[in-house]
Parts: sequence; C-alpha cells; structure tokens
Amino acid sequence: MEDKPGLAIAIDGPMGSGKSTVAREVARRLGSMYIDTGAMYRAVTVAAIRRGVSADDPAALTALARAITLSFDPPSNGGTRVLIDGEDVTSELRSVRVNQIVAKVARAPGVREVLGALQRSLGSRGTVVMEGRDIGSVILPHAGVKVFLTASMDVRAQRRQMELAASGTPLPLEAVRRIIEEDDRMATTREVAPLRIAPGAVVIDSTALTVGQVVDQIVALAERARGL
Ligand code: DC
Repeated sequence: MEDKPGLAIAIDGPMGSGKSTVAREVARRLGSMYIDTGAMYRAVTVAAIRRGVSADDPAALTALARAITLSFDPPSNGGTRVLIDGEDVTSELRSVRVNQIVAKVARAPGVREVLGALQRSLGSRGTVVMEGRDIGSVILPHAGVKVFLTASMDVRAQRRQMELAASGTPLPLEAVRRIIEEDDRMATTREVAPLRIAPGAVVIDSTALTVGQVVDQIVALAERARGL
C-alpha cells in the first residue's frame, strides 16, 4: 500500500485481547510503522528499576521519563527493539519485575505526558499502526481508523498465558485469569490508564476469530479510510 497520505490506525484493547499480535501483522500488511506504546511504559519501568527510582514516586518517575531518550531500532518499526539512551533493553521489557510494577509507572500523569508527546509525534509521521490503551481516545483522537479489540475472559486468559510462557513466566491459567481481572478492575477504577472505547472506534470481538480474520477486517477498514 502507498505510504501517502499518512493514515493513523489506533488499536486499543485490554490485556489478552490479542492487540499486539494483530497490530504487528496489520503494520506488516500495510508496510507501515508499528508502535507498541506498552513497550514504552515498560522501558521507563526498566530505567526506574535500574536507577532505583520507586514506582510509588510519580514525581521522580516523571523526571526519569524526561531525562531518558527512548528510541527504536529499526526506527521504522517502533515495536521491534527498544533502546534507552542508545542501549538495547528489549530483553528486559517483559521480565517478572517489570510485569509487577509497570502499571504503577504507567499511572504517573507526568510519565503519560512525556510518553504521550512522543507517541503523538510518531503518530504524525506517515502511515502508522499504534497499539495501546488510550490511543484512539487520548493520543490520536483524529486517527483515520480506530479499533477496540475485545475477547472473552477465557480466550484472553489463554492468550496471556501463552505470551507469559513465551517470555519465560509460565503460570497456571487460574493465576493468569486473576491477573487479567485485576488489570480490568484497575482500568475501571482508574488505578491504571482508563480503558475506554473511543468515539468512532470499531469494536472487534476476536473470541471466535483467527488473527488473520481480525487483521483482514482492520486492513479493510484502512483501505476504506483511504478511499481505496
Ligand atoms: O500492553 P502491555 O502489557 O505491554 O502494557 C504495559 C503496561 O502499560 C500495562 O500496565 C498497560 C500500560 N499501558 C498504558 O497505560 N497505556 C498504553 N497506551 C499502553 C500500555
């Protein structure tokens, strides 16, 4: 697909909705940039752990987010490798410790402000698929395509269990389900980024769909948005 004019595709959804897998594949199909905003919050968390900044100190976290430079390699694919001040930290993004405290880091308003500015700037550079929680609602409210991905609790737990196992943290399904329920609860009580369906978003329930079927639907929305 031609990369001009730029089209922003915002994909939001809860834990285990399959948004990362889908967003990556949509970007590959469209030949566009892919931005994993969760990875940015994870990178700030890695920096906090390394520098001994408490996840309970929003002001220090904000200062840290301002002080570090996040970059991506290759720069045309923001989801592949994440660098802090030039150092590749990708292998640390999904550690147990990061999983435990990233929600606290992501809740600091100053951290959201700093990363939000970075996300908006990346979102304005040509065609981009940006994945997260508040992309369609807060970061790119004028995105040409907005998708809110959902799935049943059972399917989300299975997907998250597989993700965790792949990153070296195998857990029983019941434990994973509790983590997801807690994350959902925190999103509704705003203890983490509020997760809401952005105005104009297309809701896709992926419970009974393959990755390919979800990707096809989003690519079709992108083509329609471009008048193809
Ligand atoms: O999608 P993920 O698990 O990599 O996200 C990591 C954390 O960051 C998770 O607690 C949700 C949060 N997050 C957020 O608050 N806003 C975003 N746009 C993306 C992720």
